[in-house]
Amino acid sequence: MDSNKTLEIGLPKEQFEELDRYIGSLKIDKEDERRTGYLIQVLHKAQHIFGYLPVGVQKFIAENVGVPHSDVSGVISFYNYFTTVPRGKTRISVCMGTACFVKGAGKVLSEFERYLKIKNGEVSEDGKFSIDILRCVGACGLAPVVIVNDKVYGNVTTKQVGDIMALYINEEATHADKK
Ligand code: FES
Repeated sequence: MDSNKTLEIGLPKEQFEELDRYIGSLKIDKEDERRTGYLIQVLHKAQHIFGYLPVGVQKFIAENVGVPHSDVSGVISFYNYFTTVPRGKTRISVCMGTACFVKGAGKVLSEFERYLKIKNGEVSEDGKFSIDILRCVGACGLAPVVIVNDKVYGNVTTKQVGDIMALYINEEATHADKK
């Protein structure tokens, strides 16, 4: 592994080593045309490790999986789940697809912004929460839809925003107590 590159983008070397070990464990044959099939798996792992997928991480993955950087960035931009900018530990994603928008997703988004005192695309000062918007996530029957980390909330109203946030604020407090 080329450690100079890792330092170049200011991310911990240990995190690259963890990703390196993971990619190694997949035993990807760089000559195999099906290697692109590993990309999503590797990107999931990388986002879990780093929290986001900046260009330096993308290039590292491209080199180690044996695919062009454009393939990596293409997959990232196709899936809403992946992000190239840092997110909060708890990521609140509001679907703004047509069905959700019609059913009031805009008001729900505003309520999250008011509650957390941050705007869409921002991370709270303590790094604990961030808000972003998604295109249709394919659950229109549940519109408006909000996803907090991996949990999906359907038929969300502005009144429920405080209750949803309380779950995660309490969870944060419990973790902090255990430290
Ligand atoms: S528009 Fe939100 S899930 Fe389809």
